[in-house]
Amino acid sequence: MAEIIPPRTIALIDQRLQVPPPPAVAWIRANPMATNGLLQDARGRPLRDLRISVTDRCNFRCSYCMPKEVFDKDYPYLPQRSLLSFEEITRIARQCVAHGVRKIRLTGGEPLLRKDIEVLIEQLAALRTPDGTTVDLTLTTNGALLKHKAKVLKAAGLQRLTVSLDGLDDTVFRTMNDVDFPVAKVLEGIEAARAAGLGPIKVNMVVKRGTNDHEVIPMARHFKGSGVVLRFIEYMDVGTTNGWRMGDVVPSADLLSRLQTEFPLVALAPTTAGETAQRWGHADGSGQHDVHAGEVGFISSVTQAFCSDCNRARLSTEGQLYLCLFANQGHDLRSILRSGGSDADLASAIGHIWAARNDRYSELRAAQPAQGSASGPRRVEMSYIGG
Ligand code: GTP
Ligand code: 5AD
Ligand code: SF4
Ligand code: SF4
Repeated sequence: MAEIIPPRTIALIDQRLQVPPPPAVAWIRANPMATNGLLQDARGRPLRDLRISVTDRCNFRCSYCMPKEVFDKDYPYLPQRSLLSFEEITRIARQCVAHGVRKIRLTGGEPLLRKDIEVLIEQLAALRTPDGTTVDLTLTTNGALLKHKAKVLKAAGLQRLTVSLDGLDDTVFRTMNDVDFPVAKVLEGIEAARAAGLGPIKVNMVVKRGTNDHEVIPMARHFKGSGVVLRFIEYMDVGTTNGWRMGDVVPSADLLSRLQTEFPLVALAPTTAGETAQRWGHADGSGQHDVHAGEVGFISSVTQAFCSDCNRARLSTEGQLYLCLFANQGHDLRSILRSGGSDADLASAIGHIWAARNDRYSELRAAQPAQGSASGPRRVEMSYIGG
């Protein structure tokens, strides 16, 4: 029998209260763990990618992420005092970089809604890895504010960005964002980003069967040869509010077959270890990758889990470190910061938290019978820890 979804706000508030006690500063000091860039978790996976959520708010209401019925005017968004300041975020990021992080992604909610986000970008762009290089600094945005922000973001030190875009048909797009936002403005935002020198630009499209899967081919046509890398994302059972069903997922293998009816594609090698997307290049007449025509990517976390080399940690807006997108609790770093913890304390805490990590949700899900997102333990919402 289908499980009844419990009252919404109660579930979500509980979610955020399920925080384990912070690692006690006294314990951390008795068990110091210095940074050496070689940190690994319990499954031998390094820490390479830090995704920082800077706000839990968004100006869109995509039904697969922030359905309007739940995220309404009464939704208890985090109060200002709960948010990490830019200085606090940078302190945490600095220690993560010392532990091995090479890529930092700002997310939300919608990160461009965070006031003065460019100030944070400046601070993060100044970080250096132990061998003296800059980190790969990027951001995921819905593009609504990009036209006006692109230049400022670039000037602050942002290198590239990813725009979420679920279709080109204006009616489909307005339905999916559920705030009647026109697609033309997002496309203008992408152009503004390109003109500002941000790149490579990626576009992420979450594909939901019967909602926007007919937009896959038009999207591929539109971005072929544009320099923009289009990636198709399998709709995931993240959070507990989107009513996910396995039947809504279009497996990447099916999408690939559909695309191959129009575009010759060749498999490309991964660019880095632990990459989320499987890359396919548009082929030329001789079956070789045509770099000018570009590539597409498939992010298949439902049908082909990629946990075995997952090197991603997520920092929530209020300073909880999450070790998996599907975790039901985070580890409280803010309390270390706000109780006078030193940078060494912070580094040590992050080290111990990552070293104990054993998460591999998508692999475990694949081994279980299909279920809806309301089943099982409460999980954190994507708008709270970011994609
Ligand atoms: P690039 O460095 O630009 O290639 O980015 P990325 O692929 O690491 O990250 P991006 O934020 O573009 O991820 C795209 C989507 O993949 C997200 O919105 C999620 O839907 C999904 N995704 C990213 N990371 C994970 C992960 O660790 N687990 C799962 N299950 N899905 C993920
Ligand atoms: N499944 C897959 N991707 C999702 N995103 C949000 N919710 C989901 C979901 N249920 C992605 C969006 C965006 C990023 C913020 O997270 O596409 O690119
Ligand atoms: Fe906002 Fe992105 Fe979630 Fe859509 S997917 S509601 S744009 S955070
Ligand atoms: Fe990483 Fe968790 Fe995603 Fe697996 S499900 S890839 S462990 S974030």
